[in-house]
Amino acid sequence: MLDKAWGGRFREETDKFFEEFTESVSFDKILAFAEIKASLVYGKALLKAGILTREEYFLIEKGLLEIEKEIKEGCFVFKVEQEDVHMNLEKALFERIGDIAYKLHTGRSRNEQVVTDLRLYLMDEGEKLKILLLNFIETLITKAEAYMDVVMPGFTHLQHAQPVLFSHWISAYAEGSRLHFERLLDWEKRLKLSPLGSSAFAGCGFPLDRTFMAKELGFSAPHPHSVYAVSSRDFSAEFLFILTLIMLDLSRLSEELILWMTPEFAFIDLPDRFCSGSSIMPQKKNPDSAELIRGKGAIVLGNLFQLLTLIKNLPLSYNRDLQEDKPPLFQGIVTTQASLKMATLLIEGLKVNQKRIESFLKEGYLLATELADYLVTKGLPFREAHHLTGKIVRFAEERGKKLEELSLAEFQSFSPLITEEIYTWLTIEHSLKRREILGGTGREAVKSYLNSLREYILKW
Ligand code: ARG
Repeated sequence: MLDKAWGGRFREETDKFFEEFTESVSFDKILAFAEIKASLVYGKALLKAGILTREEYFLIEKGLLEIEKEIKEGCFVFKVEQEDVHMNLEKALFERIGDIAYKLHTGRSRNEQVVTDLRLYLMDEGEKLKILLLNFIETLITKAEAYMDVVMPGFTHLQHAQPVLFSHWISAYAEGSRLHFERLLDWEKRLKLSPLGSSAFAGCGFPLDRTFMAKELGFSAPHPHSVYAVSSRDFSAEFLFILTLIMLDLSRLSEELILWMTPEFAFIDLPDRFCSGSSIMPQKKNPDSAELIRGKGAIVLGNLFQLLTLIKNLPLSYNRDLQEDKPPLFQGIVTTQASLKMATLLIEGLKVNQKRIESFLKEGYLLATELADYLVTKGLPFREAHHLTGKIVRFAEERGKKLEELSLAEFQSFSPLITEEIYTWLTIEHSLKRREILGGTGREAVKSYLNSLREYILKW
């Protein structure tokens, strides 16, 4: 018999290279604490079902807690020969308490253990991510409030479009983060289903109290389907998808920060402590932190695709391929957490160059929509107003004038509907005032958005 938990039917020693090729302990040891927590509860359920005696349970508990302590202190040695975290811990328990250790595996399969551990691990990581998101939102709100009076040209197609409050623009990322936060709350509902009692896939052959195990571990209920519970990685894929969405937003924010820090824009400056220089060009100050957030977006997007591709085409129920779910998941988590932290620091340190930004408000006919809207209030259908305004813009452009620099006679040569009033319409303030609509860029609207977002984050 082979010295493996599953060695009974084997005649030959396991190949060393095969062992290295198939091991997962090098990366799944991170699940050790979840594994111990789940094992303690599984032991309690065996005790409740009369499968373990009190003495046996207490021995198991003592052994597991000792192992936990050793891992925390860094003196526990995980061995590749023991394949994965589950086998490593079982073997270590055996070394401490002998044969009774093996009773813990009664009716249990690694197939359910690994998904239970993953779910428990993700509960913790989900909480950490929520805190990071709330910090990021808080920082964005604070920055938006600090620059409440800055008006910038808003862009579509990266062309000047309409005036917008800087606070409105930057808080778009806070709103995105609020939605990601909400996504996490919804994802938790599906995460918090306990696989314990599913066994290999067919359900446990011993009458264990699944609801008891679920509640003890902080799940909301037992997973209702033993085959799906061990086969699926839906909860990991969903989490990685949320991480990817977060990274896409961070990547877009980074792209804007990078652009805005160019001498061409010069809208903002980022602190020296988050930039690096060049090894050859002494004058350089590069926004590497933002560039790397943008770059790391590719990693997490790749992690999501890696996991989805892994799952596609797998027959039910458990297949060893599923072991490869962990590296992309873990990498996605570490990368997103670090990027969120970096982005928060960048926003905190960001300085806005109000003078420079506002110098662009005179360019690019940002108020053309106001002129069209004005004509609408005089009774012109919007398409006609749009067309006419287009002509006026071209006329002004050909003469090197801004809209507000045209004379009344010039305006009236296009339409007799235009009166002296038009000059009050063609101001930035008027354009902002007209947008005191819920979610709009009016000063009061933005203030009240920021206030309600602050209230929202205080709830959590
Ligand atoms: N290390 C395995 C994984 O991560 C644990 C489950 C192993 N199950 C099995 N039947 N070999 O998926």
